[in-house]
Amino acid sequence: MQKNSSMITGLGYAVPEKVLTNFDLEKMVDTSDEWIRTRTGMSERHIADENTASSDLSTQAATIALAEAKLKPKQLDMIIVATVTPDTLFPATACYVQKNLGAVNAAAFDINAACSGFIYGLTMADAFIRSGFYKNILVIGAEILTKITDWTDRATCVLFGDGAGAAVVQPANGGSEILKTFIKSDGRLTDLLILPAGGSRIPATHESVDKRLHYLRMEGQEVFKYAVKAMGDAAIETLKSAGVSSDELALLIPHQANIRIIQATARRIKLPMEKVMVNVDRYGNTSAASIPIALTESIQQGRLKRGDYCLLVSFGGGFTMGAVLFKY
Ligand code: UT7
Repeated sequence: MQKNSSMITGLGYAVPEKVLTNFDLEKMVDTSDEWIRTRTGMSERHIADENTASSDLSTQAATIALAEAKLKPKQLDMIIVATVTPDTLFPATACYVQKNLGAVNAAAFDINAACSGFIYGLTMADAFIRSGFYKNILVIGAEILTKITDWTDRATCVLFGDGAGAAVVQPANGGSEILKTFIKSDGRLTDLLILPAGGSRIPATHESVDKRLHYLRMEGQEVFKYAVKAMGDAAIETLKSAGVSSDELALLIPHQANIRIIQATARRIKLPMEKVMVNVDRYGNTSAASIPIALTESIQQGRLKRGDYCLLVSFGGGFTMGAVLFKY
């Protein structure tokens, strides 16, 4: 075991009840179930109602993760929420989660690394534990993307879903262990995937609303190309620096953006699809929530056994990329 390493001791996820299928979308925009399935691998996604915000799903996911870790909210030292759809621009969504949980002793803050947010959060939690500063850290990836989705734009509105996933990270005890983390960004590509207005560059005005600038915009094909390269690079870099070969991986859990991006990543590291977790068909792209939801489900489905190597890998707006290699 590495000195002062960390491990995931609890996991949980939450998605809204309402399901929006490809057939529902056919009635909303000029699209088809066939196009969506073949181009993205998606069949349905979960959609939040008007009263649900990111902190609500976060709190549900966190409660499950804390119970599995047998940790009381008051024992938490830190709460990190990764999201691009915070309840409010400030205070941080993590502070609402802190209030909901009664985690009165924690430092709570949000991070924005788009779809890579959970990987960035896990990397921070691991570093805080390795440094000896903190012991009990809650990392959440949560999104209500459907509230920044332009439902008149068929190129984007079919892609996204809502959800949250949470992990409790604590010092490793000789069994499970986070072995390697890797994060990197390329700020030259900020325009490819963006929510243009609502910040200090373009504050909210009647004009910004009329121009639909408060909805997510994406150059799909460019994002696709970057994603395939970034996910492969992050996976290869992380395995190489850990001295672990892809043959030794029991499971790859990639960000669930598009089945074709997932397949390309698996090909790049020569991994058969049987060793790749896929749930994009049922949840769509839930951004920062996609990896913790997929990780929780893969353990529930018995796809990881104690001692197995598992690689998490992501890319996202920014652009950001990252990977975490751990022994389950
Ligand atoms: O977490 C990060 C977020 N984003 C991503 O990961 C997205 C990455 N990009 C992608 O996944 C793909 O680029 C998309 C799924 C967004 C699009 O797939 P594509 O194979 O790159 O399609 P395209 O943009 O090249 O469009 C092909 C055609 C176009 O029609 P024409 O010009 O060939 O007549 C589009 O207008 O498909 C059309 N199209 C649609 N047709 C039916 C675009 N969206 C739709 C749609 N239904 N929903």
